Amino acid sequence: MNRVTYPRPAARLRWAFASLTSLAVSCAAPATPPGPSADALACRSALSTGHPASVAFWAAFEANDRAARPAIVAGLEAAHAEHPAEPELELLLGLAQLWSLADPPEGAGASEMGPLAAGVLQHLQGAQDACPTDARIAAWLGPVLVRMGRLTGNAALKAQGMGILEEGAARNPEFVLFSLAMVLAEEPVGSPEFDRAMSSLRDNIDVCGASADDPACTNGPRAAHNVEGSSIFMGDLFARAGDLASARAFYESARGTPGYASWNDQALLDERLATVETRVRLSQDADPTNDPTMVTSTPQACSVCHAD
Ligand code: HEC
Repeated sequence: MNRVTYPRPAARLRWAFASLTSLAVSCAAPATPPGPSADALACRSALSTGHPASVAFWAAFEANDRAARPAIVAGLEAAHAEHPAEPELELLLGLAQLWSLADPPEGAGASEMGPLAAGVLQHLQGAQDACPTDARIAAWLGPVLVRMGRLTGNAALKAQGMGILEEGAARNPEFVLFSLAMVLAEEPVGSPEFDRAMSSLRDNIDVCGASADDPACTNGPRAAHNVEGSSIFMGDLFARAGDLASARAFYESARGTPGYASWNDQALLDERLATVETRVRLSQDADPTNDPTMVTSTPQACSVCHAD
């Protein structure tokens, strides 16, 4: 088996080089018929993308303007009610609510979070039903179900979320393997689930190496700092696995990216590099309650890749 040895530069970070070489290759290779566009797969229309509620969502999300969220959600709710056959509006509604679930407003308690989680599930499921070709939705819906299942001790909910992630990863491995790794990474260090988090992340790096210009593997208009944010998560996961050298290499790789200079989370990266040894030690000791939290379970869970 041709298993690559780690650490090596994150495939997500090799995009600049790979896209140069693929340009060169595409001159010589016979033309292959283009597949459906990303917009078609995501069921976007001029109406839904250009709708003021969508535009307002993106402005607030990129500015990490948390105070704007109630108005953004209300705007998307109204837009979705007016245009129920536009899947993009319902997807953005579910994701705007997911942003609040991941980074809750100050003082939010169970009475706010319960309905928020229900809204996320309803609208992500609604968007998936209305747009079955968008295989990315599994990457958002699956983790919510798995985490809710864990919190409430509901094994069936957790299994449902894992099933959605596995099916999604088969259809769109570039995007969905990352979320699969993310939820499995939260399982106890040393468990078979945790080992699978590592293999899922390695598979994600490999598929991104082979299709480096996929939006899941690069920075793009919808995720301005995907590469930098991914480096933090990958460093966190390798630190949790006890691999200090790889963790450091993944963190350091974020510094060499074209998006680094305009990234808001440079201080977070500095903090990681300064504390990576402690991170490894606390993750690997016998006490699971002192394990450092991975970035994907912190209030920066969305902004680390999306704020610009
Ligand atoms: C590791 C980086 C990363 C993190 C963390 C992340 N995203 Fe994303 N997000 C992406 C990438 C990559 C895309 C895909 C862009 C594309 O398909 O063009 C994306 C797409 C999106 C989209 C666009 C959907 C559409 O209309 O196509 C939204 C909205 C979104 N994410 C919300 C979130 C929310 C909410 C969170 C936090 C719970 C989050 N993201 C966390 C990388 C990330």
